[in-house]
Amino acid sequence: MHTTVLIVAAGSGSRLQAGVPKALAALGDGRTMLEHCLESVAAAQSTGALQLNAVAVVVPARPESAAALEQVCRTVGDRTGLMVCCVPGGAERADSVRAGLAAVRALAGAATPGDRHAVLVHDAARPFVPPTVFHAVVTALREGAAAVVPAVAVVDTIKTVATTATDAAPGTEQVTGTLGRAGLRAVQTPQGFDLAALEAAHRRAEREGPADAAALTDDAMAMEAAGHSVAVVPGDPLGFKITTRLDLMLADALLDPSTA
Ligand code: CTP
Ligand code: MG
Repeated sequence: MHTTVLIVAAGSGSRLQAGVPKALAALGDGRTMLEHCLESVAAAQSTGALQLNAVAVVVPARPESAAALEQVCRTVGDRTGLMVCCVPGGAERADSVRAGLAAVRALAGAATPGDRHAVLVHDAARPFVPPTVFHAVVTALREGAAAVVPAVAVVDTIKTVATTATDAAPGTEQVTGTLGRAGLRAVQTPQGFDLAALEAAHRRAEREGPADAAALTDDAMAMEAAGHSVAVVPGDPLGFKITTRLDLMLADALLDPSTA
């Protein structure tokens, strides 16, 4: 199986507000989020959890940010032997994935004819994913799944709400129902796909909606909409996404030898 990891790192990080694009934000040890993410891919490769052909990283289109992230890719590539290339992303995550898939297709063109092409789509904002998760995703792909997501149990009770606007209380939310927690999962990345199937699913999603690209919050959604079944494998608490300052504090605590 010819496997490429596609890391999306083109987001601005508006909720983190680090003053730089999120992938460039430094964690407690001074290294950027993207560097940690690439190191976790390299760790999976070196433990044999992955047999990777290449890594494509989608970076912001702004030249200064792109140059800084390209430098990170070169540094980690030189240190680990990973073949890493960078491409500019788009306005929404789904746009960045589509831009990355074009690069992955170009890289896959050099593969042995007849070899199956798989892609692992991964958020740069998840810098600590352990090799076990990469291994579980790749194993399910090898066993024939077209789409695989790592997932963890949901700890909160999840309710649906609707906004009722009255003259007295504009925009008040009311609970409309409670979802059964036993049947819910919080989904992480890397998500693994048959490359051709994911390309077709993203083309379909672009053609038929959701009209708002922001509504496509992961890639498995595009596969579900195209009628594929999506396999679930165990995720890991360390696969958490850094979204807010609180998540950054957790990341820094994990890197602090005195709290280890
Ligand atoms: N991403 C991307 N291109 C975008 C938006 C997001 O490549 N246009 C990537 C981010 O870099 C991140 C992953 O998708 O690695 C998950 O997105 P999220 O956590 O939402 O990151 P941001 O969009 O950067 O953050 P925010 O939504 O707070 O602005
Ligand atoms: Mg976002």
